Amino acid sequence: MNKPIIIALDFPESGEAIRFSEKLDPSLCRLKVGKELFTSSGPLLVETLMKKGFDIFLDLKFHDIPNTVASACKAAASLGVWMVNVHALGGSAMMKKAREALQESPCKLIAVTLLTSMGLEEIREIGLQGEPEDIVERLAMLAKSSGLDGVVCSGLEAARLRKKFGKDFCLVTPGIRPSGSDAHDQKRVMTPKIAMSNGSDYLVIGRPIREAIDPNRALEAIMQEIGR
Ligand code: C5P
Repeated sequence: MNKPIIIALDFPESGEAIRFSEKLDPSLCRLKVGKELFTSSGPLLVETLMKKGFDIFLDLKFHDIPNTVASACKAAASLGVWMVNVHALGGSAMMKKAREALQESPCKLIAVTLLTSMGLEEIREIGLQGEPEDIVERLAMLAKSSGLDGVVCSGLEAARLRKKFGKDFCLVTPGIRPSGSDAHDQKRVMTPKIAMSNGSDYLVIGRPIREAIDPNRALEAIMQEIGR
């Protein structure tokens, strides 16, 4: 898979995001624009980043009634982004409708299974039973049968999902921490090397690169670690 690293642009506004993106080479990585940055800076920022040559994963994790999610996915894809996502917890009717809305679009559509910030306590708190790995597998199965291109999953589940769903199902893994770095609020973390060898196609990495003194060097070190 070329360019497996997706850098999370979790900045409050476009100025900072653009300055940071200028330190990066679009031939080496992709960028993820999430809720904070998209809410403050919107489609104009996405367009600016795409003009600089970056593929954009628009991480808005839609979760609503099927019609609303489908329309939102269509609007997102029409910006020309590389990938958009929904929450698998929204169910198969919602995911199928989203898929239908992107039928004509090259934009990849994936689903979030369980957030990597959720440990067993949080999973129980919302009433989900069973082991996190089993819940993730069930939600991934629902995403696949709804026609989605892949899922977001933790590195801990990647091996199992890769084995179960084969090589054409895209696995995107956040919660990545090079060994020795701070886990922050992430609970189910994994090193870049182990996540890739477990079968992840793309690694979403935020703070370990964003907060590095030299982000490009941090990116290069991770690329080296995963053998690119
Ligand atoms: O800074 P850090 O590497 O923890 O950033 C991870 C990024 O991945 C954040 O933008 C977060 O919103 C996103 N993400 C996640 N867990 C998911 C889906 C997305 O951490 N299940």
